[in-house]
Order: sequence, then structure tokens, then C-alpha cells
Amino acid sequence: MGNRRHAGSNASFAKRRRKMKEGLDTKNPNEDNRSSYETTIRDNEKFVQYYKMQNICSEDEWNTFLEVLKTDLPTSFRITASCDVEAKILLKLVEGVFFTDLLKGELNDEQKNSKPFCLPWYPQRLGWQLKITRKDIRGSEAYYRLHNFLISETGNGNISRQETVSMIPPLLLDIQPSDKVLDMCAAPGSKTAQLIEALYSGSTSSVPDGLIMANDVHNARCYMLVHQAKRLNSANVVITNHDATVLPVMNLDENGDSMLKFDKILCDAPCSGDGTLRKNADIWTKWSPGNANNLHGIQFRILKRGLELLNVGGRLVYSTCSFNPVENEAVVQRMMTEAQGSVVIINAHDKLPGLKIVNGLSKWIVVSKDLDVYKTFEEVPEKWNTQIRPQMFPPKEDLYNLDKCIRILPHHQDTGGFFVTLMEKIKPLPWETCVKQTDEVVDEVKVNNYKRKPKKRRYQGYKEDPFIFLTVDDPVWPEIRDFYELNNFPIECLLTRCSVGKKKNIYYTSTSVRDIVKNNQDRVKIINTGVKTFVRCDNKSMECNFRLAQEGLAGISSFIGQKRRLQLTRTELITVLKNPTIPVTSLDQATKDILDNFGVGSCILDMVDKDFPIELVGWKGFSTLKAYVNGECRLHYLRLLGVDVSEFDVNKFKKENNEDGPEDKSGICLDEVPEVQVKEELIQSEKSE
Ligand SMILES: C[S@@+](CC[C@H](N)C(=O)[O-])C[C@H]1O[C@@H](n2cnc3c(N)ncnc32)[C@H](O)[C@@H]1O
Repeated sequence: MGNRRHAGSNASFAKRRRKMKEGLDTKNPNEDNRSSYETTIRDNEKFVQYYKMQNICSEDEWNTFLEVLKTDLPTSFRITASCDVEAKILLKLVEGVFFTDLLKGELNDEQKNSKPFCLPWYPQRLGWQLKITRKDIRGSEAYYRLHNFLISETGNGNISRQETVSMIPPLLLDIQPSDKVLDMCAAPGSKTAQLIEALYSGSTSSVPDGLIMANDVHNARCYMLVHQAKRLNSANVVITNHDATVLPVMNLDENGDSMLKFDKILCDAPCSGDGTLRKNADIWTKWSPGNANNLHGIQFRILKRGLELLNVGGRLVYSTCSFNPVENEAVVQRMMTEAQGSVVIINAHDKLPGLKIVNGLSKWIVVSKDLDVYKTFEEVPEKWNTQIRPQMFPPKEDLYNLDKCIRILPHHQDTGGFFVTLMEKIKPLPWETCVKQTDEVVDEVKVNNYKRKPKKRRYQGYKEDPFIFLTVDDPVWPEIRDFYELNNFPIECLLTRCSVGKKKNIYYTSTSVRDIVKNNQDRVKIINTGVKTFVRCDNKSMECNFRLAQEGLAGISSFIGQKRRLQLTRTELITVLKNPTIPVTSLDQATKDILDNFGVGSCILDMVDKDFPIELVGWKGFSTLKAYVNGECRLHYLRLLGVDVSEFDVNKFKKENNEDGPEDKSGICLDEVPEVQVKEELIQSEKSE
């Protein structure tokens, strides 16, 4: 496989070289070919005509709506809420240091009018919006420092850059620590990250009972989900790669006697995306009303499958980043008609106080791709009958309170456009009541509906190593158990990805995730799960061949005994974090005394503090001590401990201004990482692990 890939890229490289020689293609392959916002035409006659007819915005607001739609989107981010204390300290830093510095400097008019703005409806003041351009970052040290800080904390999962409107669906789901949550169309995963955080926020346990299953049909995009989930170090996440319209019910035991229905489901459907015009300006030229007609069917089928996988009493959010009623209210209405009273739309208008919304539409028009308007299906010419379906038309009378759906318009609070509906399943769906609800039966229902038999497939792709759970008989277990004094440890929740040879990394999952992975590996393609917890480290001086990994420490710490714990004072921990390694002699006498009898190897560095306890993985050498954490993690804890870390910042701002160095072309790194790059990086890192 690898050779074929190389052959392909060599062939195209040779072709390009030939073309360049012939003067046909002078394109530099390293050149940034993205069209700049300045050169993109931000207009489309059909778009204007279509949405004027749809009345998505009142007439007196129309011009402002269009004007704002043609401007760039501000940046927005949220501070991770999974750990309350850390979130509060970070918020204090953001507001009290970084924003204060921004506002102290000399501001141009644009900067004065675009001060950081706290999203009033986002809980605990953790959601923020601000305008920050490449020019700002290059021109002001305060902006540069904020930018650096945001990137550093984003890498660690403590801050997430996310479009403001995209934060709404997870909030409406009101995730509780025990919820079993499905994210049906999850990539690239900013909402998944928010769902994971919500599962932990409010949980008294370091591994909550609930779980997040994040799914996407696109294999490469699933690796963006892995990237998101890895930032958050959660044992409660499983990432799957399956067509959501036919996602099977998950078995929770070998015989399929126990099956998983979800408590909360996010159905953030694939859509035409015209609500993201401010971010993806190329949509202006590609936009056509036909796009929405082509998506209605798949959107409906995903939503329907979501409701089938939902528990009675469970809640589902259907959302799109499209203004188009054919992708929004028409899909919801079609579902409500089929559900025959088993599903209700919940009025969520007051759930996010301070968020300006517009009611869902109960009247809309359906058009062909040439913008011919049809009021009823009977008017549709036969040639369009496959694209325009009867269910796309609005109801004569709104029986389902479509006005309870929520629309967000860009000019109301300087955001993108969005559509969201909160639904509750109040009884089994009509086609669920007539038959016993088992996996096979649901598949049978699908076969009847779509007239095709489900294929029997094995879902272990060549890139995905199997997930092998450890047992008490595993030869590595006794040394790990004894070295770390593990007590009542659920060994059945540890897994490796190596079927042969020495185990390299050992991952930890929650019990409910373990059950899903164990019993469904040959039914859905499982891309990733578990948090890295033990890592092979063949150090002759250590009695155990596995060191602890910071990523998984929070999940297993409560099982670890006292032998490998070292208590440090705040000052000692700061010293350890500021230096790659320190001599034991530089520690307090009390700590030195303990270390006299402390074996070499992996350990936990504990800073006991009633308000803000910290636990880090450390390494005790013969005469040294160090924190076994990456650079970003060091900076994060130093910041939380109140240390000014600017000495560790590579001050690119100064470098550029003093040395007149090359212009920074990297742009605002808060943008999402290109997906191919993420996938390559992850495959490489998985391979090297
Ligand atoms: C709007 S994006 C989702 C954005 C995501 N929820 C987030 O917040 O980052 C829609 C996603 O649906 C996926 N998709 C499209 N068809 C699908 C299907 N049949 N089943 C599952 N996922 C699908 C696409 O690959 C795409 O990643």
C-alpha cells in the first residue's frame, strides 16, 4: 500500500516537473494557493433573490444582514469547563492580564470598536469573542502575547477555538456526567470537544459514568476527531467511522442481550453551509439553491436514525450551519410527520438568556436549481421529481410548532448563521412499537424502508490495529500492579493496540466505553479510544518497565498507592516545572529525607492544596527529579501557579521588529489545522508509539 502511494506521488511530481519544463505549469507547489478574502467576490445574485423570497430576515434588517455577511468573522473561543478551578484561574488570566494589556496599548479605531466581548449566554463567562487579525498580531506585542497564549493553551485542551454559533448545540443538550451521548456527524470535532468537557464538568468522579461516541462517515476527518479528543485526555470517548444513516445499535455484551440507546444525541448534519459565508468566502461563488435540495434526503435519514438510537425520554439536537429551510424546517417537519406524536420540539428559546434568536419558519418556498419557484409538489415538472420531493414543502398548517426551532442571523450578534432544534422522544417511534427492539429488527426496518440488505462487513481497516483488553493473566500486569501499588484496579479497562510483540502503550477506558469497543469491533469501524496511561520505558534502574503518562494520570490516580507519590510544596513544584531537571539537593530538607528511600523511576508529584491540588507525572533519578510532562503542560501549570512565563515565550514579535525578519505567513494559528496534516501527524505518532 505504502509503495503504491509513493508511486502515485512520484508520478504526479514527475508530471508537474515535465509541465514546468514545458512552461505549462509555473505553479510553485509550496505556494499558498488559497484565494485571499480580498480577491473573493462576496456576492451572488441568486443567493440574494432566493433568501429575500424566503423571508429569513425582516425587510428592514435585510441590508444589514447582507452587509454583515460580507465581512470577516470575529475569532471566538471558550475556556475548557471540565475542571472548575482551572477554568476560573484561566479566566482571570484572560480577563485580568491579556485583555487588560490589549486595552492599555495604543489602539487604532478598529481595535477600539472591537474590544473582547463575553458571550452573555455562555455559562460561567467562559465563552469569548474578539476581532484579532494577522495585522494586529504583527503590529502589537499585547496581541501577539494573547495569540501565543491562546495557541499554547489550545494545544493542551484548556482553551478551544470555536465559532460562536457552533457552541450552541452542545449547550442545549445539557449534558450530565452519566449521559450516554452520540455525536453522529462529529468531524472536525469542536462540538465533540465541548460535549466531552460537559460530561466532566459537574462530575464528582475523575471518570464519569457517561460516554461520548463521536462518529463520522469520512475516514480522514475521523482523525481530526482523534486530534480533538486527545487534547482532552478522556477515558470516556470512542471514535467510530460509519455512515450515520445505518449506524447499528451498539451491543453491550457478547450475546447482544443488552443494547445501548443514547440519552443525548447531536445530529449536526452535513449541509450546504451558507451560514459560514463569513468564514468560507468561496461559498459565495459556489452557492446554488439546488445544493439544499440534494442534501435534504441524507439530512432526514441521519435525523431519523438518530431518533431510532435515542432512549425514550432522551433529547436530540438537529443543527446545520445553513439558512436554507429545505435543510432545516423541512427536514424537521418531515421527521415530525413520520414520528406521529412520538417526538416533540422543545421550546429552547429561553435556555440561553442573552442570545438573540429568530423563530423557525412555518412557511417557505421550494425552488429548482434555476430558481423556478414551486408552491406545491404538483407544480414540479417531472424532470425535477428526483431532486424536489413532496416532503420538502411547507405544511398547510403548522402542526408541530416549527416556530420553536431556532435561527441565528449573523448581524444580530456578529456571528455566523445557524439553525438548531431541540427534540425529545416521548415514546417509541411508530415503527419501533410493532416489533421487539433489537439490533436485527432495526436493521430489518431499514431493509424494508430502503429495500436493501445490510452488508455483513468486518470493520478493521488496515490502518486500525485491534483494541486488545488486558486480563489479570497478562505478564505485564503484576509488575505494574506492584510497582504502583494499584488497588482494586479495573484491569479489564486497560487496552493495547499491539497484537504481537512487546506492548508499548497501555490505554485506559471507562467501563461503558470498554463494553462498546469489546462487543462491536466487527460491526463498526472503531478508530480510536482510551487515554494513554502507561508507557513502556526500558530503564534498567526502574523495577517496572512502564512509566506513567500524564495524559491518563487523572483517570487512574485514585488507585495508586503512596509508594510512588512525592509531596512537594508550591515553591518546589514551581522550581521543578521551570527546569528540565533539578538536583535533589536543591529541594527542602523534608523532601530530601523522603527521597533518600525513594526508588528510581516514574512517580506522581503531588502539590497538596485544598483549593487547587495538582498532580503531575514525575521522574526520580539517582540524584535528580523532573516533571515528566510536555512543554505546553509545564507552561500551563506555571501560569496557573501565578508565574510569569513570558521568559519562555519565543518572542516572535520582538524578533520580527528588531531583526526585520521575514514576514509571518503562518496566519492566525487559531484556525483549524488542515485535515490532511492532522491525519498524517496522527498516523505517524500512532506508528511511532
Ligand atoms: C457540519 S459537519 C459536522 C461538524 C462537527 N459537528 C463539528 O462541530 O465540528 C458535517 C459532518 O458530517 C459528516 N457526514 C456526512 N455524511 C455523513 C453520514 N452519512 N454519516 C456520518 N457523517 C456524515 C461529514 O463528513 C462532516 O464531517
